[in-house]
Amino acid sequence: MKKVITYGTFDMLHQGHLNILKRAKELGDYLIVGVTSDDFDSRRGKINVQQSMMERVEGVKETGLADQIIIEEYEGQKIDDINRFGIDIFAIGSDWQGKFDYLSEFCQVIYLERTKGISSTKIRTKNNHLRLGLVGNAGRIWKVSNEALVINGIDIVGTSGNDGCDKRVSNLENFSFKDLIDKSDAIFIESNVRDRFEQVKYSLEHGKHVLCDLPMAIGKRKQQYLFEIAKKNGCVLMSGIKTAYSTAYYRLLLMVKSGEIGDVLSVETTCTSLSEVSKISSYSENNIWSAMDAWGATALMPIFQILGTDYIDRTIVTKSIDKYFDLFTKMDFIYENAVATAKVGKGIKSEGEMIISGTKGYVYVPAPWWKTEYFEIRYEDLNKKKRFFYELEGEGFKYELVNFLRAINHGRTINYTGDNVLKEVSRIYEEFYNRKDVNLI
Ligand code: CTP
Repeated sequence: MKKVITYGTFDMLHQGHLNILKRAKELGDYLIVGVTSDDFDSRRGKINVQQSMMERVEGVKETGLADQIIIEEYEGQKIDDINRFGIDIFAIGSDWQGKFDYLSEFCQVIYLERTKGISSTKIRTKNNHLRLGLVGNAGRIWKVSNEALVINGIDIVGTSGNDGCDKRVSNLENFSFKDLIDKSDAIFIESNVRDRFEQVKYSLEHGKHVLCDLPMAIGKRKQQYLFEIAKKNGCVLMSGIKTAYSTAYYRLLLMVKSGEIGDVLSVETTCTSLSEVSKISSYSENNIWSAMDAWGATALMPIFQILGTDYIDRTIVTKSIDKYFDLFTKMDFIYENAVATAKVGKGIKSEGEMIISGTKGYVYVPAPWWKTEYFEIRYEDLNKKKRFFYELEGEGFKYELVNFLRAINHGRTINYTGDNVLKEVSRIYEEFYNRKDVNLI
């Protein structure tokens, strides 16, 4: 029996895929199709795949051409597969011409003519032409605009709130807020904390999808209200904390939740930055964000995601210049079986790490933990330490934008942060600004 193997992502299965599977099948008696795992794709930089691995496997299965479907998970797996399954022919499209010659040491390598004029990329671009408007100061949104540029299917309409002087976004047109909403299908908001609620509300009321930094609203009820308008108007409303979308962070959460470090007893997060605060007295004119505005939501997110929002008690201590500008804030939470601390600073520097302690071991994420790429799971026995690395390209905006796009195309919000987390973050900000049970130093 002649065995043939071929590999691919097979996203949104199209005629080109069908043709190659048919031709590959004709080369022998038994066809094995390797479908790439989501992880493998994202590691090799293919991040805007629309369908999940299971959906892609289903697509290949439905063609009825594959005798066996396997998952491709790692670099070098092809050699293992060829040996393991006793493969006679490795077949792949001509776009890979020459790239797999090294496999001829193990089996015959055949490049099959690629079907012209069709590809998953093309379908994605056609389906997802999304006009995205960016709201916020140029100093912040230039990063997101840079990363959005490489995502096929996203067109940046322009900005609002950008003063127009910043060279990094000078190629983008600056509109009034309402004009920008008018011209866009979806809005990315990273504006000043206290402007966001009205902006999100207006955008949703006008049928636009929204990806907004946290907090979106000051107060739990307002956040709930935003969820309700989004639902009523069929809009996607997603949290814009980019850490939540990094593969490493997401993996870390799954591991903690599946008991890798036992029961969690403590979560500690620290986020600080020294930049920008040379002239604190003129912070508002200079659009400088306070410690809480810049970091609060990010530092709180893992605490609420891991331990939930039903804490028994909490203490906030802050060193502030005025009601809206804190330099340093420390938030402590007591749960029935655990404790947590979030520390944020602006104009104050500390080690920006995250430590999650459990009954069997602990997770250590080195600074800057909010750009999660690498983390360790450590145990009493140092030799058992496990290391995890998932590369994060750029600042990580790309991942949240791709997820946002995917949610819009699928017509539903894929919630990486959890509605209760968003609401609790909003509540903390309200209490903080109102100085409700907040200690000043
Ligand atoms: N293929 C083909 N003809 C096409 C598109 C793909 O023969 N028009 C082949 C590829 O050469 C590969 C297999 O189908 O052997 C799976 O390719 P995949 O990368 O999943 O498909 P693409 O449409 O090329 O995806 P993308 O645009 O995301 O690169």
